[in-house]
Parts: sequence; C-alpha cells; structure tokens
Amino acid sequence: MTATRVCSLSELSPASAKKVVVDGVPVAVVMDSAGAVHALGDTCTHGEISLSEGFVEDDAIECWAHGSKFALDTGKPRNFPAYEPVPVYAATVDGDDVLVDVSQNIAGSASIS
Ligand code: FES
Repeated sequence: MTATRVCSLSELSPASAKKVVVDGVPVAVVMDSAGAVHALGDTCTHGEISLSEGFVEDDAIECWAHGSKFALDTGKPRNFPAYEPVPVYAATVDGDDVLVDVSQNIAGSASIS
C-alpha cells in the first residue's frame, strides 16, 4: 500500500474536483461541500467523460454529460444512465499534502440496485 502525494490541500476548495494521474490511473480528487477529501476513478462508467469536469454537490459528483451522480463514499451511481460504480481510493490529508493510494478499490464492486 503506497500513498502518493497528488496535490496541496490549498489547491482544493469545497465542492470542487481536480484531476490527477497516479501510476497511470486517472483520479478525481474531490473536496465535498463539508470540506472532506475523497478520491474516485475519474472516468464515468457510462462514457469516456472526466468526472472531475462535472459538478460536486454535497456528497456526490455529477457527470456533466448525462447527469449521473456518483456517491463520493461508495462510488455508486445514484441515477441512470450510469449503473456501474467508479472505484474509490483511500485519500488522506497530511498537513497541506493530499495523498492517494490507487493500489486498492476501497469501495468494493457493487452496482446500483
Ligand atoms: S458519460 Fe457520464 S452519465 Fe453519460
């Protein structure tokens, strides 16, 4: 398990997302509306769209293309057309450093039901 520094905490603001690439894996680093930091796979499961270009609202990120909202804690879509979850990675904050570990999907692989 190796966490990689991806950005400074000061580069993020509430309800925003930033795309980073960790070991070749595109990741959306998201600060939710409450200020907590999350890391999700950046590619929407419905199409080749970068989720970090979408909208963060409360505890979800919305794909700008067709409106599926993915929960930041589970990666599960809350509405169609996407029905497969995106991976969720461990994100930690150490001082002003944001670290992400892409070696493991911590959300499992359940899909919408
Ligand atoms: S590409 Fe994301 S919802 Fe369609």
